[in-house]
Amino acid sequence: MNMAYPNLVPSTTEPKTHNHLIGNLPALQEVMDRDGYWFFRDVLDKGAVARLRRVYIDELEMLGVIDPVGDAPVEDSVRPNGKPTVVNLADPIPIARSGVWQSFVEEKPIHDFLVRLLGEEPFWKPITVYRATLPDKSTASNRITGYHQDGPTTPGLDFITMWTPLVEVDWEVGGITFAEGLTDHVNRAEVDETGSSSMILPENLPEGCLRHTTYRPGDVLFMNCWTPHSGLTNVSDRFRLSLDHRVMRPGAKRPYVGAVVSIAPDRIELRDDSGVTATVDIDDSSYVRATGTERIFGQEIVDAFPPGLRVIVAHENGVATLVRLTHHE
Ligand SMILES: [Fe+2]
Repeated sequence: MNMAYPNLVPSTTEPKTHNHLIGNLPALQEVMDRDGYWFFRDVLDKGAVARLRRVYIDELEMLGVIDPVGDAPVEDSVRPNGKPTVVNLADPIPIARSGVWQSFVEEKPIHDFLVRLLGEEPFWKPITVYRATLPDKSTASNRITGYHQDGPTTPGLDFITMWTPLVEVDWEVGGITFAEGLTDHVNRAEVDETGSSSMILPENLPEGCLRHTTYRPGDVLFMNCWTPHSGLTNVSDRFRLSLDHRVMRPGAKRPYVGAVVSIAPDRIELRDDSGVTATVDIDDSSYVRATGTERIFGQEIVDAFPPGLRVIVAHENGVATLVRLTHHE
């Protein structure tokens, strides 16, 4: 989401915190429907967060873009050493290869927190982004990377995005800014003739709806997939390190996740990770997307989803609502 709007520095206010509702799923569900997010302060085990952060830092050291940090404290992040890099550090850093998020959510205190919060074993939507965002002071007058919603391009999947800061993320470091109270299931972006969405214009967001805070290790934000949000650029002198991934909302219908067995323009067969082989029809209502968010059709579908590829298929009455690739499993 790199579309930039000129001269935009949003004004934001502090989000609510929902620590007092942990263990009260009906109240949490109501908040998610009304406000569009849960924000919890100081709930994730800091040792687990530190171990995840260490993986990022080791990676940045290996890339040569920071000097070795040794035992120095890193809760307020690390500073780039100015060496040029050809690697796109924003999305993703190469740790995406090594299944790092699974180790994090399997740490007992993290897992126990999630089960208590969701009231069920988390069902992860395997779409993960590891962000190590470089500072760029040239963005100071234009800090919005693009307001969007995650829901419109994933029909039939009622998931919530979990955004975890791994270092202190203050106003200068940027991070996520999101709208409170805009949870209607409508696409607020312009939609082109292919049905794909683009960005939400800032003037379409009501005055005073945007939230941001100084996020710290141990804090975590969960967002309704209809909640408009944007990255805020990093104008500090240090990296922003965060993880975002997605979990199905408690009680939501789960998609198939697995490998393609066979593919045709009007049908996909896959072997779900639970061991079941499923066949789902594809019709005009199915949002099929390959690497981007653009819808694809006919032979493009066959070309984009060869047997063996890992996919997510949301479905209703035997028809796919969504077919897409997994991302950094
Ligand atoms: Fe997003």
